[in-house]
Parts: sequence; C-alpha cells; structure tokens
Amino acid sequence: MKALVLSGGKGTRLRPLTFTCAKQLIPVANKPILGYVLDQVTSASIKTAGIITAPETGQHVKDYVDDGSNWNLKVKYIPQEPLGLAHAVKTAKRFLGQDSFVMCLGDNVTGQGLNPFVKKFKNEKLDALIILKEVEKPSAFGIAQLDKEGNITRLVEKPKTPMGNLAIIGTYLFSNKVHQAIEQIKPSWRGELEITDAIQEMINMGFSVKAELLDSWWLDTGKKDDILTANARILDEYIQLDVKGTLTCSIVDGRVKVEPSAKIINSTIRGPCVIGKNVVIENSFVGPYTSIGDNSYIVNSNVEYSVIQDNVTVKDIERLEDSLVGKNAKVTRNQRNRTTKVNMGDYSEIEV
Ligand code: TTP
Repeated sequence: MKALVLSGGKGTRLRPLTFTCAKQLIPVANKPILGYVLDQVTSASIKTAGIITAPETGQHVKDYVDDGSNWNLKVKYIPQEPLGLAHAVKTAKRFLGQDSFVMCLGDNVTGQGLNPFVKKFKNEKLDALIILKEVEKPSAFGIAQLDKEGNITRLVEKPKTPMGNLAIIGTYLFSNKVHQAIEQIKPSWRGELEITDAIQEMINMGFSVKAELLDSWWLDTGKKDDILTANARILDEYIQLDVKGTLTCSIVDGRVKVEPSAKIINSTIRGPCVIGKNVVIENSFVGPYTSIGDNSYIVNSNVEYSVIQDNVTVKDIERLEDSLVGKNAKVTRNQRNRTTKVNMGDYSEIEV
C-alpha cells in the first residue's frame, strides 16, 4: 500500500502566511503539521509516499521532507495545479499505478494512527474506506449517510438540510477503482474535481465503499483559529517537562519544553508550552498553550495561547493572546505616543 499526501492547494484562508510558506509547514508545537501527518503514514508501515505540491510552495515542502529518510519513506514529489482533491489523485495516477493507497490531507491531524483502518480495508477487500467523525455543525462539512452495515449510501457537501452529523475528515483509503470513478466526474461549481463526487461515483458504480468512525480528535488546520486549537491540543498531548536551556531568576510551571541554548531571564513560563532553540525571554510571562519558534526574542511582554514562529521579536506588549505570528515578524509597542504604526503584508489581520 502507498500513501498520497496532499500538500498543495491554495491556502487562501491562511494568507498572508501562505504567500511565503506552504500551509502544511506552519508549525504547531514547533513542528510543521505535515511532519505529524508523515509520522502517521510511517506508523502504518507504509514505505512509499507521493507528495502533492503546489507551484508556489512546492520547493518549501521538498526542503522540509527532503528524501523522506526522516520518516523511513521513499518519496516522490508530484506537482499539481490546485484543481481539487480528486484532481490530485488523477495527477498522481502514474505514481499510484495499480496499488491501493491511503490519502491524507497534509494539513489535517488526528490523535489516532492509520493502522486499524489499513487492516479493515485489507481484510474486507474494500474499494474505499472513508474515515468519519461526528461534528456539531454538519452544514460546514462533507457529510456521509450510512446504512446498517456501515456502507456509505450518500455524500452531500455542506448540506443545507440536516442529514446526519458524520463528517468526512480527510483520511481516505482507496483501491485502484477510484481512478475509474474520477474519469466519470466533472468539475464542481467551484471549478474543482471533488473527491466527494468521486466517492459518490464509486457508490453509483457499485463498488464497496465503507466508513469507519474516528475514535480520537481530528483537527483541520485550514484557518488561524484551527492552528491555535491544534497547537493547544498537541502541546497538551505530547509535551513533557524538559528544560535544556538556561533559567535565570525564572519559574517554569507545568509541562514546559525549553530547547538547548534558549535563555529565560526573570520570567515565568507556564505549560503546556514549548520554547525553541536560541530563544531569549526576558521580563516576560509566556503560556499556557504557547509555542515560541527558534531564535525569537520576547521581552517585557505577556504571550498566551499563541503560535510565534522563528526569528520573531515581541517587545513591550502588555498582552498578546490568540495570535499566530509568521517568521521574522516584529510586534513592538510605540512608546512615545498612542498611535498604531503598521507595516503589514497583503491580507494581514490586526486587532488593536
Ligand atoms: P483545502 O484546505 O480544502 O484547500 P486549499 O489548500 O486550497 O485552502 P483554501 O480553501 O484556504 O484556499 O485543501 C485540503 C488539503 O488538500 C490541503 O492540505 C491542501 C491540499 N490540496 C491539494 O494538495 N491539491 C488541491 O488541488 C487542493 C484543493 C487541496
């Protein structure tokens, strides 16, 4: 079995960060989201992965994953214009050949490994196994309807009238029959070849399409608040007390990871929290649920529930909260008067 990891797309909802960075590389707990997705692929003993990339950000993805050896994976990069998830499968057809594959979205993380799904798919000789999760707001998701045996009978994208609450989460297992279905479908109103249409077509063609419920959490990191939620969840789940940097007149409270050569001076860090390499934190309060990227400088400030990426300066900020700050950014306070001065990228959002 192969893996197909979708790391292309447009990432419009995460602008301006996605002008310079693939959204799958935005870090949570100081590790790119794509890294967690590839960990899951590896944990299912899959050895070969195709990675879909977009024209603008493909090189960044290649720089991060490289030859895949960090995950014991043989990787093949597959460039794609972002024309839909089913279009990504179509573009990868030659790489996939006759093999079955697990398809994962490179910006979705779950708290559960892929192994049980791979087992079920193989044991029951399915053509598609679609992973679902109950959601509170079905009208925002692709929703599946099931019969008593767990076969999917119908899929509806963002249903306006209620038809259940089982959402498609972005983990799919397919046999090579999916290619026949994709040949039959047409682009949707938004101009994309939709994977929901391909799955519906597989059902119409009489292939065995089953569903399995995810037992754990699932996070789609398509928007800023989702990234902050994923950051909090992953910090909560994985971070243990591990202080390698130096503390001077400072308090570390709870599960805090401080990377080597970070310096915490006259400050309090409240976990769960991760502080990157060479970070300097001075006269500040950081945490909980905060990640500070490498080489950042936090001084005379309070930072809570935030993702601060590498080489960022936060200086004299009384309270920075619920914030996602991109690489090399500066957040400082104008000491002399009360005006707000900004030098912001296109599509930035600032609340003062
Ligand atoms: P989406 O988040 O649905 O789409 P997007 O990345 O274009 O984002 P936005 O709506 O903010 O513009 O994509 C889900 C995942 O699939 C994501 O990791 C990107 C990837 N993807 C591809 O690789 N190719 C594609 O053609 C599309 C649409 C998405």
